[in-house]
This record gives sequence, C-alpha cells and structure tokens, in this order.
Amino acid sequence: DGDVFNYYADGKWNKSSSGKFVPIINPTTRKIHFKVQACTQEEVNKAIESAKIAQKLWAKTPLWKRAELLHKAAAILKEHKAPIAECLVKEIAKPAKDAVTEVVRSGDLVSYCAEEGVRILGEGKFLVSDSFPGNERTKYCLTSKIPLGVVLAIPPFNYPVNLAVSKIGPAIIAGNSIVLKPPTQGAVAALHMVHCFHLAGFPKGLISCVTGKGSEIGDFLTMHPGVNCISFTGGDTGIAISKKSAMVPLQMELGGKDACIVLEDADLDLVAANIVKGGFSYSGQRCTAVKVALVMESVAETLVKKIKDKVAKLTVGPPEDDCDITPVITESSANFIEGLVMDAKKKGATFCQEYRREGNLIWPLLLDNVRSDMRISWEEPFGPVLPVIRINSVEEGIRHCNASNFGLQGCVFTKDINKAMLISDAMETGTVQINSAPARGPDHFPFQGLKDSGIGSQGITNSINMMTKIKTTVINLP
Ligand code: G3P
Repeated sequence: DGDVFNYYADGKWNKSSSGKFVPIINPTTRKIHFKVQACTQEEVNKAIESAKIAQKLWAKTPLWKRAELLHKAAAILKEHKAPIAECLVKEIAKPAKDAVTEVVRSGDLVSYCAEEGVRILGEGKFLVSDSFPGNERTKYCLTSKIPLGVVLAIPPFNYPVNLAVSKIGPAIIAGNSIVLKPPTQGAVAALHMVHCFHLAGFPKGLISCVTGKGSEIGDFLTMHPGVNCISFTGGDTGIAISKKSAMVPLQMELGGKDACIVLEDADLDLVAANIVKGGFSYSGQRCTAVKVALVMESVAETLVKKIKDKVAKLTVGPPEDDCDITPVITESSANFIEGLVMDAKKKGATFCQEYRREGNLIWPLLLDNVRSDMRISWEEPFGPVLPVIRINSVEEGIRHCNASNFGLQGCVFTKDINKAMLISDAMETGTVQINSAPARGPDHFPFQGLKDSGIGSQGITNSINMMTKIKTTVINLP
C-alpha cells in the first residue's frame, strides 16, 4: 500500500499523533505509491514555534557560514539526485531525465543563492541628510538588510523540489527560517530534498517540512500569526491566500496563459521547435508553457504542418521510459483537460490529431482554427493540448494576449527586432521572450506575473531582497 514517510520538524523525523496518512497516488498506475503523515494543527504550531526560536540564532550566524552550509546542502542534493528523481517519476510522472535535471538545477540554485547572498547582503547604504531641503549635514543614515523571520514556502506539484529550493535558498541565506508545506504529490521528493539540508547540518528547527491535508492545515498555516512571509507557487489557491493573509509580505506565482505571437517573417522551423518544446514538455504542466499560439494567417498553414510533424514524433507513455508525454497529475486534471477539448470540438476547432486518452495519459493534441468563444482560448489546460488562433494583424494578437486575466510570460517570433521590442512593450505580461518559448530560467533572471499571475518578483536576487526588510540606524550629530 505504499511506504510511509515521516514529517520533519525540530531537526528530526516524526510521526503524526493523528495516526492518519495522506496517500500519494502514482499518476501512471493510479494506485497509492507512498503515504505521508497527516500533521495536526498542534504539530504545525510546534514547527512554527521551533522555526521562530531557530531563526533568532540563525540571523546572528555570520553570512559566510550560512553560505557555507548552503553550498554543502547543494552538493549533497546533487549527490542524491538519483533517489530524488526516482520519487519525482513515481509521484508526479515527470519524465526520468527531466526529473534528474530538476534536482541538479536545484543544487545549482542553492549554490547561486549562497553566492548572491554574500554579495548583496554584505553591503548596505550610507545616506547623509543635507540632500533633502531644509536639512544640514547633521544626520548619517546607515542601512542594512535584516531577515523577516519565519518564511512559509508552498511549492506546487510540477516542481516539488526546484520550486521548494527557490524559496528555501533565498530565505535561509537572508537569515530567515523555513516551514515548508510540500504539495501532496511530490511530498516524498521534497522530504528527500529536506533530508539533504538535514545532512548538511543546519540547526534544528531552522527548516521543517510539514505534510498533510490542505483542508486540515492549509488555512491554518497561511493565516498563522507566527508566519512572517509567504512564498507560494500554484493555482487559484494563491488568490484565496492573498485575501486571507494579513500583514505579511507575499510572493506569489500563479497561473499563466502564455501567448506565442508569430509574425509573417518568423523563422518557422524555430517557431515550430519552440512551440512543441514550450507547449508539450512535461505534458504542458508548466505555468510558463506556451498555452496559445497566435499566428498570422499567411503563415499559419505552413507552421501548423511543421508543428504537426514534430508532434507526431513525440513519444507517449510512462515516465520511467523517459517518454515526452506522460500521464497528467490526477484523474480530475485529465477530466478537466478533456472538458476543454470537448468544448473546442463542439464549437468547431480543427483537430490536427485524433483525441486519445487512457487513464491519466492524454496524447498530444494540436487544435487549429480555435476561436475566442472556445474555453481553450482563455483557460489553461495544464495538459498536452495546444490551441492555435489565426490572426490577421499583430494588434489582434496583442489584444488577445492582453484580454487574458493572466499575465505571466509571452513570446514573439520575428526577425525584426524593432517590431519585437514594440510588441514586447505592448504585451501585458511579466516577461516577453523574443524568438524563444517562455521559461522561468536561468534561475537568477527576474520572474514575475502581472494581473492574476502573481504578486512580486522572483528569481534569486529578487527573492533574497523580498525576504528581507531594510533596517536603518540614524546617527544624529550635535
Ligand atoms: O510552472 C512553474 C514555473 O515556474 C515554470 O518553470 O522552469 O518550467 O519555466 P519553468
């Protein structure tokens, strides 16, 4: 019935007093693969309490020592890439090679946090008063960056390790402590990752990982008075969290409906390669996936054919075989995707392949001649289905992109850099990629969504800054 894993708090592995477990369903077999502890609110209280105590000492630990431990954790994480990747394969059906890449990328991210942290936290500012009207040079102001306290990290199922460390690394280098609530699917991979931090020798209580049902501990965590910052990546839950949380800085990365605008002069082979990679890697379960292609009518026929040829080459099957397209995360997700497909069918979209599904496995599907009255034009399938909308002008493409409630990333393909820059300015998204599919990385680049796609900016440097406050000391001269 699946191995049972303990949660991590106060520097040790614990069983919950609830005596209950949360099952983790393998998306491929649709059977229980692992179980994690269903923590109680009391256990969450204890984890936050010990995080609070550990943080006070950690904030006084020299920056270079914090960095040293993070480098150690990063190295251990990379050494453990095989067993962690194996969990990702079983829990979230990530293709085997991508699962390893996620862990290696995470180790690199943690090391970069250590390096960036010692640089940006190692310097402050010195201001003098006489630059403001009416003041003499009688006040000297010194600024430094201080930690916020306890950071609550909630990553999503699609990167349970990488999107956890993208919160843990910046928080820890900046002198905060971490309470991690991993996604249920991906929880065991996250616990393994936390074990690497444990082995690196961080003080007890500084990092904890509580597992459990969202209905039992979700709101309790996000509304907890002991939490001083929330960094969340995921879906609509983030909007609910932002309404319920009070007086804590929020970092949120939510959904996206990333548009790809294709101009007449674009290199269509490049576009096709990027649309297939951007739209179908990890079966489209990325917030930065290409989720709608807006293609100039004059090149649409040729481009659709090129994409179709590439889609035909995608391998479909279990993640263990490193297939390109693997089962989507849950049955309800597969049902939702199917609902979008059926709606498009009813309303007359052109199916470039036949729709096919077995269990949670959905074959890649390209839909041409999609119109804006179809749900797939606006909703994110989080699955291997990509709509193509044919446009007659660039303005039409920009209008569609900006009419979305999301604004994560977008991309434009053209050989004309001037046009590309103007389109980038006009697109209401946090990032616009010119001649490449949307992507979060490299992980030190700023990453942010406009509108319903998020609050604040991520990327290593921005996250470190976000997880600190400015403290000033003013010396008043006689
Ligand atoms: O869906 C999570 C988002 O952060 C995507 O990351 O690296 O696939 O662009 P990436």
